[in-house]
Amino acid sequence: MCGIVGYTGPKEAYPIVITGLKRLEYRGYDSTGVALLNSGLKVYKKKGRVAELEESILGKDLHAHTGIGHTRWATHGEPSDRNAHPHTSASGKLAMIHNGIIENYAQLKKELGNKGYVFTSDTDTEVLLNFIEDIKENNQCDLEEAVRVALKRVTGAYVILLLDADSPDTIIAARKGSPLVIGVGKGEHFLGSDASPMLEYTKEVVYVNDYELAIVRPNELILKNLGNEKITPFVTKLDMELAEIEKGGYDHFMLKEIFEQPSTIHDCLRGRLDATAGTITMSGIQNNIEHFKNAQRIIMVACGTSWHAALLAEYIIEELCRIPVEVEYASEFRYRNPIVNKGDIIVAISQSGETADTLVAIERAKENGAIIFGVVNVVGSSIARISDGGAYTHAGPEIGVASTKAFTGQLAVLIMMALKIAKEKGTISDERYKNLLLELDAVPEKVNAILKNADALKAIALKYKGASDALYLGRGYNFPIALEGALKLKEISYIHAEGYPAAEMKHGPIALVDENLPVVFIATKDSYHEKIVSNIQEIKARKGKVIAVITEGDEIIPGMADDVFYIPEADEIIAPMLSTIPMQLLSYYVGIAKGVDVDKPRNLAKSVTVE
Ligand code: AGP
Ligand code: GLU
Repeated sequence: MCGIVGYTGPKEAYPIVITGLKRLEYRGYDSTGVALLNSGLKVYKKKGRVAELEESILGKDLHAHTGIGHTRWATHGEPSDRNAHPHTSASGKLAMIHNGIIENYAQLKKELGNKGYVFTSDTDTEVLLNFIEDIKENNQCDLEEAVRVALKRVTGAYVILLLDADSPDTIIAARKGSPLVIGVGKGEHFLGSDASPMLEYTKEVVYVNDYELAIVRPNELILKNLGNEKITPFVTKLDMELAEIEKGGYDHFMLKEIFEQPSTIHDCLRGRLDATAGTITMSGIQNNIEHFKNAQRIIMVACGTSWHAALLAEYIIEELCRIPVEVEYASEFRYRNPIVNKGDIIVAISQSGETADTLVAIERAKENGAIIFGVVNVVGSSIARISDGGAYTHAGPEIGVASTKAFTGQLAVLIMMALKIAKEKGTISDERYKNLLLELDAVPEKVNAILKNADALKAIALKYKGASDALYLGRGYNFPIALEGALKLKEISYIHAEGYPAAEMKHGPIALVDENLPVVFIATKDSYHEKIVSNIQEIKARKGKVIAVITEGDEIIPGMADDVFYIPEADEIIAPMLSTIPMQLLSYYVGIAKGVDVDKPRNLAKSVTVE
C-alpha cells in the first residue's frame, strides 16, 4: 500500500511533499520519510506518522526544489526507522521510495549479496534499488536505462520514484500494479499515489499506466514504455476540490463521511433515477444491456466492505432479474481456477479502484474473454480504466479507513442496476418497479432522519464499549449488513465481532452466548420478521444482551431487546441502505469511547495495493 509524493519545480519541495503525505496517510502510517535533492541528497525518515517526522526535523536544512516522500504500510520488515523509505543505494547517490512488493526480491538479494552488497534494511525496496544501481554501474548507463533493465527482471507490483544526486531536478518514476498520478503545472510537476497532494496547484493530471516509465523535470514530462519508446501523455482534467478532502468541522473523516451520506446517495441517484418518470438512466448498463439480459451468470468480485455490497447485490439481482449470481473474494478468485464462460459478466466492486486482489482478478478474467463491469468510487482509478463498462458511485473522496459512504453508494448503484436490468428483461412487475424507484428516491431523506438520532447510538456504544466480543445477526437482505456491521466494529474498536445469518447461529455461535455477549440484531420489518423475533428469544433465553435495529412502529421487539434503535419504514430491498447507518455510528462511537484513532486504525490501510 503506502503513499508516495514527489515534486519538482520552482517552489520549495518539502512543504508540498509533507502536506501531500498527510493527505495520503490513509494509505499507510507505519513510517514516514522524505528525500530532498539540492546539491546532494538529504534523507529524513522515521517510524510513525507524518506529524512525528515533521516535528523531529524542525530546524533542519529542508531547502530543495525537488523532493519525494513516502508513508509506509509495511510488507517486508517491521515498521522501524531503518525500514522506513526513502532508501539510499550503497553509493549513497540514489534515493528511492516504493509502493508495492517485489516478489523475487530474495533471489535478487542473494545475487547482490554474492557481489558484496550489504543491506541496511529488511525491505524488498532496498534490494530493487541496489539492483538498479548495480546495473547502472556495470552497464555504465544512465539511471533511466538502468531502471528499464531492472524492471524487466522484476516480478511483483510497484510504483517507484527515484532521485539521483547527479541529476538535479529529475525524478524517475515507474509503475506496475500500484497507482501513480502526475500533476502537470506551469514549469512544475507533482507526483502522487492519488491526486490529493496536487489539488491546490493543478487540475491537469496524467494517470500513468502499467509498464510505463516517467522522466519528470520541471518543464518536461517524458513517458516511455519499457521498450524505450516514447508515449504521448494523456492529460485529464480533475473533477475534485480541496474541500472534499478536508474534515469540514468534523472530528474525524469517518464521522464526516457518515454524515455526508444523504448528499452522497443523492449525488449517486441524481441524473440517473427519475422516480416520477419511472426511468433509470445508466449508460454503462444501457451500452451492455444485451449482455446483461442474456447473461447466464454474473460473477461479483470484491474485497471487504465492497464484498458485502456484492453479497447484497446477489440477493437483489437474483430476486429481481432472475440471473444467477456468484460472489467471490477477489483474492480467492484470482488464484483458483474458476470457470468463466463466454457471456458471463464480471462485476468488480471497489471504492478505491486500486485494490490489488480485485484488479488482478479482473485482469485474468478479461484475458479469458469475460466482460468486466466496474462499480468504482475513485474516478480514473485502475479498475475503472480496465473495465469494459461501469458506473461510478460518486461518493466523493473517502478518507476514513473504514468504508461508509462508499458502501451506501455501491448499494445505490447496484440496486439501480438490478432494477434497470429487471425492467429491460421483463422480470419485474410495473408496480413493483415504480414502487422501488420511489423507495430509492426517498433514501437520502430517511438517512437524514436516522442521523438526527445519532446520539442514541452514542449512549448504546458507551454501555457496551467494554465488551470483548460481539455477534451481529441478520436474515435475508440484512444478512450482508450483519457482516458489514461486524467488520466495522472489528476495524475501528478492535472488539472481536462476527456476523452471521441469524438462523445459522444455532449451528455453532450460540455457544458463545452468555450475559456478557452483546448481540446486535438487524431486525427490520420484512418477510423474515417473525423468524428473527424467534432468534432474539433464543438469545434472551441464554441471557445474551440484545441490541436491535428495528422499523419504526415495531411493537414486538422493544419488549424483548435490551436496547433498540428505530429506523424509518422501507421496502425490504431498500432497508439495508438504512440499517447499515446505525452499524457505522455504533462502531464509530465505540471506537471513540475506546480512544482508537478511528480514521487510521492499527494495521490497516485504506487502499490495499498489495496482495
Ligand atoms: C472497509 O471498511 C475496509 N477498510 C476494507 O475491507 C475495504 O472495503 C476493502 O479493502 C476493499 O477496498 P476497495 O473497496 O477499495 O476495493
Ligand atoms: N514492500 C515495501 C516495504 O515493505 C513497500 C510497502 C508499501 O507499499 O508501503 O517497505
